[in-house]
Formats: sequence, structure tokens, C-alpha cells
Amino acid sequence: MDAPLEAQVDDLRRYLRGHSVPETLTLLADHFPGRASFSTSFGLEDQLITHFIFEHGLPIRVFTLDTGRNFQETYATWNKTLLRYGRPIEVFAPQAASLEALVTQKGPNSFYESLDNRKECCHLRKVEPLARALAGQQVWVTGIRAEQSQNRQHMHRAEWDAGHRLLKVHPLFDWTWAQCLAYAQEHGVPVNPLHQKGFVSIGCAPCTRAIAPGEDFRAGRWWWENAAAKECGLHDTAERQGLDPVVERMPGQG
Ligand code: ADX
Ligand code: SF4
Repeated sequence: MDAPLEAQVDDLRRYLRGHSVPETLTLLADHFPGRASFSTSFGLEDQLITHFIFEHGLPIRVFTLDTGRNFQETYATWNKTLLRYGRPIEVFAPQAASLEALVTQKGPNSFYESLDNRKECCHLRKVEPLARALAGQQVWVTGIRAEQSQNRQHMHRAEWDAGHRLLKVHPLFDWTWAQCLAYAQEHGVPVNPLHQKGFVSIGCAPCTRAIAPGEDFRAGRWWWENAAAKECGLHDTAERQGLDPVVERMPGQG
């Protein structure tokens, strides 16, 4: 694949159709040496991809964005993963000075007060660190699946991320939640214990809650906002085009 990066999307999509997750990851590691990175938030999907990368000894960098507001269970899963695989997970944290200024000015829970405040917090704790993590990379691997939301159903297993100017690949794009669970159980992959308590999509603790059976996968994320707004900005280019978020009801307002 010697064409400009952006022009490689179609080839990649074609190739990925007939190949397994380990084959996909191996291809990425081989064709983009030292320039393919996987981002993990330690949810079920991410734990599977981490497992594939580490078990196959693939030279794909694994990193996480530590917002500082994760659940204790998420930190425990992170720790378990380090012990299980003995491979490094790089950490990108918010810029201390910006975080200090925000929390000094608006307090620790400003994200409940308005959509702008929520986006400001996500930008500072996730989006800006992500930009640093992806600098110089050619491929960004994520745990996104089509089933996770209506927006995501319109995405592709491989796409061009115009914002970060790299190829974005979702190896588990067509997997169902049940398939992911079964694979994790069969292979003893460490999973976040919150999944057994009704948490499906897990982000920061103050902004995530469990869902009831039958509820949308992302219903527990920023539950006080309109469904269209439920993205933190990490996956803006692909997911948010044309959407107009509207805040419906804030926590504490019934
Ligand atoms: S989000 O945009 O709503 O936060 P979601 O939680 O569905 O995203 O996760 C989708 C993918 O984004 C994950 O599989 C992972 O690749 C990446 N991701 C989300 N949050 C983080 C994080 N804190 N650190 C690293 N990667 C993350
Ligand atoms: Fe801040 Fe909530 Fe976004 Fe986490 S999910 S960065 S706590 S607004």
C-alpha cells in the first residue's frame, strides 16, 4: 500500500472483508510499522482488541486517555490487564494547567450544567489528549461496533479520519455484544465487572449509568442529553456530521 494514506481506505475495506481480527491487526502492524495505535477505555470490545494485540505480540501501540474521572472498576480492569499480559499501556492525561483552571473556575461537576460545559470537559480530558496520542500516527484502531448506536451503523470498518488525518479501523465493527462476551469468556479475557451490573458502554463515572434490558446501548452515557448529542468528540468526524445536539433534561431536574 504505497498510495497516499487517504487513498488507501478502499483497499483496506476490501481487504478487511475477508479477514479475521488478528489478520486485520497483523496487516496494520506490517504495513504501518510503528505508526498504528489502538486506544482503549477498557470496555468489553477494547479488552478483546487488547487481547488480540498482546496475545499475538503485535507491534501496535496501546494507549488510554485517563480522564481522572473513571470508575474504580475501570482502573481495576486496567491493572488486571497489565498483570495478565505484561505489556505496556501508554497513558495520556489532561494538561494539568487547563484542568486546574477549569475546575477552579467551574467546580468539579460543571458538565451537568450545560452541553457547552460538558463538551468543554470532554475536550479537555479526552479530545486534546487524543490529539497528542495520535500525533504522527497513520492508523487509529478503536473498539467501535456498528450495533452501538444509530450513528455508528453508518460508519465503516475502515475510514479516513479527516480531523486527525489518519486511517481509522474498527476490527470488531460487525461483532455483536453477545459474540464479544462469549469470546471474552472462552479466552479468559479480563472484563470490567460493571458489565455484569447493567453497564454496557462505559465512560467516566459521573457521566455513565447502567441501562435497563432493551434500552439503547448508549442510553447510560450522558443520559440527561438528547440522543444525538451522546458523543464526547473523540469520534466527531465520522459520527457527528449533520447532527444538531439538543440538551433535554439535566440531572436533578426530574
Ligand atoms: S465515546 O466517544 O462515547 O467516549 P466509546 O466509549 O463508545 O466512545 O468508545 C469507542 C472507542 O473509543 C473505544 O473502543 C476506544 O477505542 C475509544 N475510547 C473511548 N474512550 C476512550 C478512552 N478514555 N481512552 C482511550 N480510548 C477511548
Ligand atoms: Fe468530563 Fe463527563 Fe466527558 Fe468524562 S465524560 S470528560 S467527566 S464530561
